[in-house]
Amino acid sequence: MRKPILIANWKMNGSLHANQALLVRLLTKIRPYRKAMDMAVCPPFPYLFQVRDLLGYTGLALGAQNASPAASGAHTGEVSATMLREMGCRYVLIGHSERRSMYHESSDDVAARFRQVRSAGMTPILCVGETLEEREQGRAMAAIEMQLQTVIDENGMAGLRDGIIAYEPVWAIGTGRTASPAQVSETHRAVRQFLEFQEAGGGEALRIVYGGSVKAGNAAELFQLPDVDGGLIGGASLQADEFADIASALA
Ligand code: G3P
Repeated sequence: MRKPILIANWKMNGSLHANQALLVRLLTKIRPYRKAMDMAVCPPFPYLFQVRDLLGYTGLALGAQNASPAASGAHTGEVSATMLREMGCRYVLIGHSERRSMYHESSDDVAARFRQVRSAGMTPILCVGETLEEREQGRAMAAIEMQLQTVIDENGMAGLRDGIIAYEPVWAIGTGRTASPAQVSETHRAVRQFLEFQEAGGGEALRIVYGGSVKAGNAAELFQLPDVDGGLIGGASLQADEFADIASALA
């Protein structure tokens, strides 16, 4: 049985004051659900120290929102996986659609970033998902399989076997439009079948989470679906009460 996981992606939001207020309230409200799941908070890079200290010994893990494809050196503006590990990160989001679309990270770039995170001893959360056009043209799984295959070609299956994949349909991110339970179920099952085919079975430890306009009102319906092992939450993770309600739906 896979332990569910709930991940907060704060994106480019927060301040020292707001972060403190949010986490102090959140840590109190999620106390009843802590043992039922793994939880991680992924703040913007500048707040890693503060969030690490606020998470303290609560058991919530620290995560980052990206890592450099290079190990070190002349890469102005980048942050290396080893630096993130040194900050106390256990998870790193890799290949988020906003990185792919707005900052032109290719699948090869994503695969290199994935490798660096694995090499530094952290767990990459590999984000995959189709655009609305790909969904409407019936090419959703083809697009997702290409994103997965590039990472497998670069890292082998070992990199995914006990990892985390976040299925985030691009058209559901930040839009308030959530994928239907049927779409989520079908895609999560297809991703697991694709990976099992690659490795001829196994991969049971792999966790596949859903992201894309998850709110307190739809979380229970999404999380009860087979092959949904939790959620990757954006906007709702910035509201302590809403995120705690989502956690209660996963518990
Ligand atoms: O990484 C999670 C994010 O992309 C989903 O955002 O605001 O739709 O929950 P949101």
